[in-house]
Amino acid sequence: MTTHDITLTVNGTAHDLTVESRTLLVHALRDDLGHTGTNVGCETSMCGACTVLVDDEAVKSCTLLAAACDGSEVQTVESLVDGGELHPLQEAFAQEHGLQCGFCTPGMLMTSLDLLAHDPDPSREEIREALEGNLCRCTGYQNIVNAVERAAQTMRAATDGGDRGGD
Ligand code: FES
Ligand code: FES
Repeated sequence: MTTHDITLTVNGTAHDLTVESRTLLVHALRDDLGHTGTNVGCETSMCGACTVLVDDEAVKSCTLLAAACDGSEVQTVESLVDGGELHPLQEAFAQEHGLQCGFCTPGMLMTSLDLLAHDPDPSREEIREALEGNLCRCTGYQNIVNAVERAAQTMRAATDGGDRGGD
């Protein structure tokens, strides 16, 4: 069994880990580091439940080897709450009833975070396109799109006011 000594910085904290060659990032995050907000769904890059940011890009962590992420900055859904305060995306998902089972939601949030970091004012069509790789099997996407649209407005207003909004 070949192992690798790697460093992952997760939500701002650096961790030294020893992982097998076959260890997927999602398993390193969940099993080695306890970040269980990142879910395992299909493990085939289809559902998006495992989405995290790696070096500020949304990726499906079931598709990446942990060893390949050596030295990377990873952001998981746990990072969104700041000092007990929900992120505008989390607030908006709650207000627009975009939260459903909780299984797909972390991935939806992280994909949306990536979208809004690159495009603070997306159209509804652009939101739908961004979320194409995040599947929900129980409902429609209307409330989720509403939530991302509302969060974008809140974050733009906060940025205009010099408050937190783009993080
Ligand atoms: S678990 Fe990664 S895309 Fe489904
Ligand atoms: S609400 Fe999560 S899979 Fe449907």
